[in-house]
Amino acid sequence: MRGTNEPNIIGNELKYISKSIKNNEIAVGRNLFLFEKKLKKNLKAKHLVLCSSGTAALQVALRAIGLKRNDEVIVPSFTFIATINSVIYNNCQPIFMDCDEYCNINVDKVLEFLKNNTFKKGNYTFNKKTKKRIYAIVLVHVWGGLVNIDKLKEICKLRNIKIVEDATESVGAKYIKGYSKNKYAGTVGDMGCLSFNGNKIITSGGGGAIITSSKKLAIKAKYLINQATDDGFSYIHKEVGFNYRMSNIHASIGLAQLEKINFFIKRKKTIHEFYKKKFLKCKNVEILSFPRYSKNNFWQTTLLVKNKNHIKKIQLIKSNLEKKGFLIRKAWLPCHLQNPYKNFETYKITNSETISSKLICLPCGTSLKSKDLNVISKVILNCIDE
Ligand SMILES: Cc1ncc(COP(=O)(O)O)c(C=O)c1O
Repeated sequence: MRGTNEPNIIGNELKYISKSIKNNEIAVGRNLFLFEKKLKKNLKAKHLVLCSSGTAALQVALRAIGLKRNDEVIVPSFTFIATINSVIYNNCQPIFMDCDEYCNINVDKVLEFLKNNTFKKGNYTFNKKTKKRIYAIVLVHVWGGLVNIDKLKEICKLRNIKIVEDATESVGAKYIKGYSKNKYAGTVGDMGCLSFNGNKIITSGGGGAIITSSKKLAIKAKYLINQATDDGFSYIHKEVGFNYRMSNIHASIGLAQLEKINFFIKRKKTIHEFYKKKFLKCKNVEILSFPRYSKNNFWQTTLLVKNKNHIKKIQLIKSNLEKKGFLIRKAWLPCHLQNPYKNFETYKITNSETISSKLICLPCGTSLKSKDLNVISKVILNCIDE
C-alpha cells in the first residue's frame, strides 16, 4: 500500500550510513556536523540545532524562549496535535484560533483577538478573561504553504509576544514578497522548528531542528536537548533537560536527503499542478491553493470535497483507492475538538470546523509516477460523479 507521503531514498543515504558505521560514528560523528552546517547554509539560518523530532524541537523552543508555567500560547486549532502538545509539555495553556483559506492560522482574527481581548501591562500582554500572560504564538505553516507572518510581526514585537514557527511541514519554502522576502520558513520568527519525520519533504528517519537568529537562544536550546549538562565530566545539571539529540546515523540520512531537496520540491509542485489540472473541471471538488506571497514546498496537496454527502464520498474514495493500493488521509480533526483540549479557550472558530471534514490529503509521495497519479485522479473522479 502506498502512503500519502512516503520517503524517497534516491541519493547517498546508504553510502553515508555505511561510512558512519565503518567509522564507528553511530551516535555522534561528522555527519551531524555536516547536516547542521549544510542545512543552516541552505536555509540562510543564523543558528541551527539538530534534535530528535519536530515535536522535541517545538517543546524545547517554547521552553528556551522563556515560557513560564501557566502562561498562555496562541495556537491554530487546525494543526497536527504535536503543535499543541508542545504547549502542554511546558505546563502552559493554548488559546485556539481559526484557520484561513490556506488552512493557516487566521491572522486577521488573531489581530482582532489581541486588540479586543488582551491588555498590556508593563512589558507583557495579558488575557482580559483569564488575566494570564500571553507570551508566545505558534505559527504553523500548514502543508508547505506559509503563514502571512508580516501582518503579525510588528504587533507581536510591540506586545512582547514571541513568535515560534512550526515549519515542520514547510522545510525549504520561502517568502517572495513583503518584509520577509527571501526568508525561509522557520527563520522569520524568534524561533523556528523543522521536522525530518519519515513523511516530510526530507527525512532523517525521525528528527528535527530548532532555528534562531539569537546565539543565546541557540545555546539554551542545545543545552536543553543535551540533558541540561553543565559539566559532563562531573555530571552537573543545573536544570531539568531532555535527551533530544539527533544521532549521527539519522543525520547521515538527513544529509543525503538534503542534497535532493530541490528535486523533491520541484516534484511536489508538479504533483500539485497535475492534480489541479485533473480536478479543474469537476464542480464538486477543488484542489486547495497555496499562498501567493510565498514559494511553497507543496508538501501536501489537499482536495476539498464539496458534495453535500461529502463524508460518504470520502469513505468511498478511501475504499476504492485502497483497492488500487493507495492510501489517503482525512485532514486533521481541529485540536480544540480533541479530547485533551476540549476545555481550553477558543476565539471565533468557524472555518476550521467546517473545512476539516471536507478535506482529503492526497497521495503526494515524490516517487509516485504519472501513471499512479492518473489512477488516483480517475478513481476519485469516478467516486465524485457516482
Ligand atoms: C504541523 C506539525 N507539527 C509538528 C509535527 C511533529 O513533528 P515530528 O513528527 O517530527 O515530531 C508534525 C509532523 O509530524 C506536523 O505536521
